[in-house]
Amino acid sequence: MLTADQEIETAEPTNIVIFGVTGDLSKRKLMPALVRMLCCGLVHDDSKIIGIVNNRTEEVWLKLVREGMQEFLPEVVEDENRWKKFLSRLIMVPGDLGDETTYQRLAEALVMLDGKKNAMFYCAIPPDWYGKVTQGLHKVGLANEDEGYRRLVIEKPFGHNLASARALNKELQSVFKEDQIYRIDHYLGKESVQNLLVYRFANSIMEPLWNRNYVDHIQISTAETLGVEYRAKYYEKSGALRDMIQSHLMQMMTLVAMEPPVEFTADAVRDEKMKVLRAIRCIKPEQIKIQTVSAQYASGTLNSENVPAYVTEENVSPDSATETFAAVRFYIDNWRWQGVPFILWTGKRLKSKAAEVMIRFRKPPFNLFDSHASVPAANALIFRLQPEGGVVLRLNAKKPGLTTDNEEMVMRAPYADDAEEVADAYEILMHDVLIGDGTLFSRADEVEASWEIVEPILDAWENRVSIERYRAGTWDIPAMDELTKDCVGGWHKPTIHK
Ligand code: BG6
Repeated sequence: MLTADQEIETAEPTNIVIFGVTGDLSKRKLMPALVRMLCCGLVHDDSKIIGIVNNRTEEVWLKLVREGMQEFLPEVVEDENRWKKFLSRLIMVPGDLGDETTYQRLAEALVMLDGKKNAMFYCAIPPDWYGKVTQGLHKVGLANEDEGYRRLVIEKPFGHNLASARALNKELQSVFKEDQIYRIDHYLGKESVQNLLVYRFANSIMEPLWNRNYVDHIQISTAETLGVEYRAKYYEKSGALRDMIQSHLMQMMTLVAMEPPVEFTADAVRDEKMKVLRAIRCIKPEQIKIQTVSAQYASGTLNSENVPAYVTEENVSPDSATETFAAVRFYIDNWRWQGVPFILWTGKRLKSKAAEVMIRFRKPPFNLFDSHASVPAANALIFRLQPEGGVVLRLNAKKPGLTTDNEEMVMRAPYADDAEEVADAYEILMHDVLIGDGTLFSRADEVEASWEIVEPILDAWENRVSIERYRAGTWDIPAMDELTKDCVGGWHKPTIHK
């Protein structure tokens, strides 16, 4: 949890308007984050949370909020004072998002909250609604910043391909200026992802090694044990490439590969990330088979439980060829990274859950200790983003005894010790919106550039009728060994670093 005693910039009073306040994201993430932020003063005391609610009375809505909180942050409901304080911040505006009078009512409600003109509009709704909502806000003057700031927060997916991403950006920018738009990529809000930046730019020993002269290749990965859960309607049209690689993993790649920005400000950082995206080599149609992998989970066993195949999950077509595992081998054509493969991979229902960035260094040039058996392994620096954040350095050390035989030694630096609570990504990101810091949000040009890069792969995969399968709960994807066969150490599957 963020705490106010950490000398964090205090936000001005703001009306936090949530579209989709009865949805899953609000229940799981937004409401619990707001409660925690309110409790420690990260949301100004004079702020209100305004939910736009359709077809429900206020009583029913508040009951839903309570049930959600009971599930995701029960200690708040159990503490009567805290709960009452939170309830006193909630205001409901009834209405349908497709109805213009809803925005009129919202504007009137905001006027009633006299003196508090700042507003953050959080769209926790399906992307098809972004256009309607922004137009609705525009028509009643709520995008206008004459009397206070107005910030629009939207969630991924930002489009479905390049054309739709461009159309969405155009639509949003016809109402809001780019610096009023905050595109959330919750991976950038993870503390451990920001730790990667601090490791890179607050230590002088990293920079000399951070290039093609010392790095063999880089793997950026998120392995999940969960399946598609209740989201098949969305996932069937998305697949792992759109869902994870085009967004979270490519964003992480830009942070790993970018040059040091001149300052830690939104545009300085995003300009450097953009340069990386512009330098990514376009994958030609004939290279797609060589540089990508896609697969789908079959039934299997996870944590001793049988789990179903993707094609038998609810709302999945029985002949679906949607990928639940995707990998792409990118190259960045610039001086720093020429020839270094960046392998981005992600999958659901894999053997274990972990998100990592692994920098694999080149092999030692010569084995001085050759006469004594073991060949030293190539070093690896691994940023473990989750489940537990931390950094691991794999080195070679002498085995105790009379020989110079070596063995791999693991130096592990956990990100936070058990007593330190790590802030949730949504607390960090919403606080950034409140103070107007867009550094950890995707800019329009980044989003379009990343779609442009993955588009040839999407096109190639679009009309396929079959796909490789892997057994749920395994790493059984031989194409990954092929994809990484010339990389030192091959496919790096996350392990528990002891
Ligand atoms: C979301 C994807 O953006 O990220 C999900 O849509 C995925 O499919 C999730 O499960 C992973 O997020 P985290 O924070 O649990 O790693």
